[in-house]
Amino acid sequence: MRRFKTQVGIIGAGPAGLMLSHLLHLNGISSIVLEARWRAYCEGRVRAGVLEHTSVEMLQEAGVGDRLRREGLRHEGIELGVDGVRHRISFSDLTGKCVTVYGQQEVVKDLIARRLADGGDLRFECGEVSLHDVDGNLPRILQEKDGEANEISCEFVAGCDGFHGISRSAFPAGALSIYERSYPFAWLGILAEAAPSREELLYMHHERGFALYSMRSPKITRLYLQCRPDEDIHEWSDDRIWNELRERLGCVDGWLPTEGKILQKGVTGMRSFVVEPLQYGRLFLAGDAAHIVPPTGAKGMNLAFADVHYLAAAFASHYGRNDDAKLTGYSQTCLRRIWKTQRFSWWMTSLLHRFEHETVFDHKRQLAELEYLVSSRAAATSLAENYVGLPLGDA
Ligand code: FAD
Ligand code: PHB
Repeated sequence: MRRFKTQVGIIGAGPAGLMLSHLLHLNGISSIVLEARWRAYCEGRVRAGVLEHTSVEMLQEAGVGDRLRREGLRHEGIELGVDGVRHRISFSDLTGKCVTVYGQQEVVKDLIARRLADGGDLRFECGEVSLHDVDGNLPRILQEKDGEANEISCEFVAGCDGFHGISRSAFPAGALSIYERSYPFAWLGILAEAAPSREELLYMHHERGFALYSMRSPKITRLYLQCRPDEDIHEWSDDRIWNELRERLGCVDGWLPTEGKILQKGVTGMRSFVVEPLQYGRLFLAGDAAHIVPPTGAKGMNLAFADVHYLAAAFASHYGRNDDAKLTGYSQTCLRRIWKTQRFSWWMTSLLHRFEHETVFDHKRQLAELEYLVSSRAAATSLAENYVGLPLGDA
C-alpha cells in the first residue's frame, strides 16, 4: 500500500472536480484528483455547450479563460420558434449580458492543461475508489487497481464524480433526501460537420416535438430532437435524422438547417434530481453528483461551476481565516441556486416539449405562454436573466 496526503481529495475530473482543484490551487490549498477514465476520454466527451455569463467571468477571473475568449462564440440572445416562426430574445438588451458557446470538452481540456502546467496531481484511470471515515477528522480515500492499492489521507473530500459516481453512496442510509422527476421523453443529439447557418441557438416548439439548433464552432453544428425515452438510436439512419430536423426546424421564411456529415449521435435521458444536504461530515458533493437538470435550460455545467465556486470560497475561509461559517453553510448556499435552476430548467422543458398525454387545454396554455413570452418584455426578461445566469452573490 502506498500512502499519500493532501488537504482536499477530489473524486472526478469533470468540470466540477477540475475547476475546484484549480481554485484551491489559487488559494494555496493542495488537492489530489482521482478520475476513473483516461485523459483522452474526459477530453473528448461531448456534452454541454453553453456557458453562462457567470461561468465565463469565473473562468476568466481564475485565469483559465484565454482560449475561451479567443474561440468561444459570444451569443447576445436566442431564438424561440413556434411552428416555423422565429422570435428573438435579446439577452444584451434585456440584461446587458450574454452567453458563450464553448464545448464542455474544451473547458475540460483547458482545465487539465492548466492543472498539469501548475504541477497539479491528477490521476486518471484510477480503478476502484472508496471513501472511508468521512465523518471523522481524517477521511481516507482508497484506490485499487491491478492488485495495487493507494491510500490518500485528506482533511476533506469533494465528491465531484457525477451522477453515477460513488460519493453520494458514502452518505449513510437516511442522511440524504432525494427529490426527482423524470420526463416522458429524451433528446436524440447529433454533432454534424456543417457550418452553422444561424447566428444564435434556435429552440423550436413543434407539433412533432421539440427541436434545438445549436453549434460548437464555425464549422460544427449540434442539433437535438425530442424523442421517446427508450428510443433506439440504431433505428435512426442519418437520412431519417435530417428529414426530421428539416421537418421540425424548417421555418416559414424558407430557412433550413445546413446539413453535413454526422460525426456523433446519441440519446440522452431527461431528469430533474436533487439531493439534500450536500454535506456529510467532511464529504462535500458538487455538480452532477448532487443534482441533474434536464438540458433545455443549458444549465448542467454552469451549476457545477457555481457549486465549486462556493466550495472553494468555503475552503479558503477555513484554511485562510480559520472561519468555518461558509463550510457549514455550503449546502444551503448551493441549494438556493440549485432550486432556482431546477425551476428554470423544468419550466423551459415544460414550455417547449410535446407531452404524450397532454390535454388540449394544456397544449393551448403552452402556446399562450410562448406567445406571452415573445410579446412581453417582462416575461422575456425573466427568461433572459435566468439563461445568462443569476448572480452568484458573495460566497
Ligand atoms: P461530470 O462531468 O459527470 O464529471 C464526473 C467525473 O467523475 C467524470 O469524469 C467521471 O468519469 C468521474 N467518475 C465517475 N465515477 C467515478 C469514480 N467512482 N471514481 C473516480 N471518478 C469517477 N448539460 C447541458 O447543459 N447541455 C447538454 O447538452 C448536456 N448533455 C449531456 C449529455 C450527457 C450524456 C450527460 C451525462 C450530461 C449532459 N449534460 C449536459 C450535463 C453536463 O454535462 C453536466 O452537468 C456536467 O458534466 C457536470 O459536471 P460534473 O463535473 O459535475 O460531472
Ligand atoms: C448544446 O449546444 O449542446 C446545448 C445548447 C443548449 C441547450 C442544451 C444543449 O439548452
